[in-house]
Amino acid sequence: MKLFIDDANLEAIRELIEYYPIDGVTTNPSILAKAGRDPRETLKMIRDIIGDERIIFAQAVALTYEGMLEDAHMIMDLLGRNTVVKIPSTPTGFKAMMALKKEGITTCGTVVYTPMQAYLAAKAGASYVAPYVNRIDNMGYNGIGVVKQIQDILENNDMDCEVLAASFKNSQQVLELAEYGIGSATCGSDVIRAFVKNAAIDGAVQDFVDDFEKLTGKTSMSDLD
Ligand code: G3P
Repeated sequence: MKLFIDDANLEAIRELIEYYPIDGVTTNPSILAKAGRDPRETLKMIRDIIGDERIIFAQAVALTYEGMLEDAHMIMDLLGRNTVVKIPSTPTGFKAMMALKKEGITTCGTVVYTPMQAYLAAKAGASYVAPYVNRIDNMGYNGIGVVKQIQDILENNDMDCEVLAASFKNSQQVLELAEYGIGSATCGSDVIRAFVKNAAIDGAVQDFVDDFEKLTGKTSMSDLD
């Protein structure tokens, strides 16, 4: 499972790509709004931080078919290779996905609340579909269950599309989907930082150093004479 940062906070992105095996950054208009500057500038800065090898997701904002295509072209011109254009999984969005597929632009069907949206986005040529786990839970349905159902639909129909699960509130949700073998998950910085925030781990690591120091008076192998 690939792991993405769902955030446009530059400091958080710098920190997380240094310490965690991160495959890229996902954004949406609300995430870019939190960053507070011109969204083109924020996206360019994210690209500069993560480099050309990692993937960046940016969303078309326009609601019309023509506008979605124009947004997609602008995003591709701005961010270059390894860029995925997020398109809402609506009828207009499906039309845009089909056209962008023909142009060779990679898309992600986003705003996915139902398996039917995901099926149609995949069939329209989206390379990713992004179901919103926590938001589905908040509607009274089972977000994890919906993601698993989408994964089964994609697999059983041999669709060339992977799940990019989004909207997580805790690491257990992420782990359950990793166990199920979904393609990608994108998480807010706080959720990623909490992945291995665990007193037992910190305590065990410190115990090893303390025991070594009792034996040698040193706190690292390289300090030994
Ligand atoms: O891109 C979709 C994702 O960011 C939604 O997450 O936390 O706003 O529900 P959230």
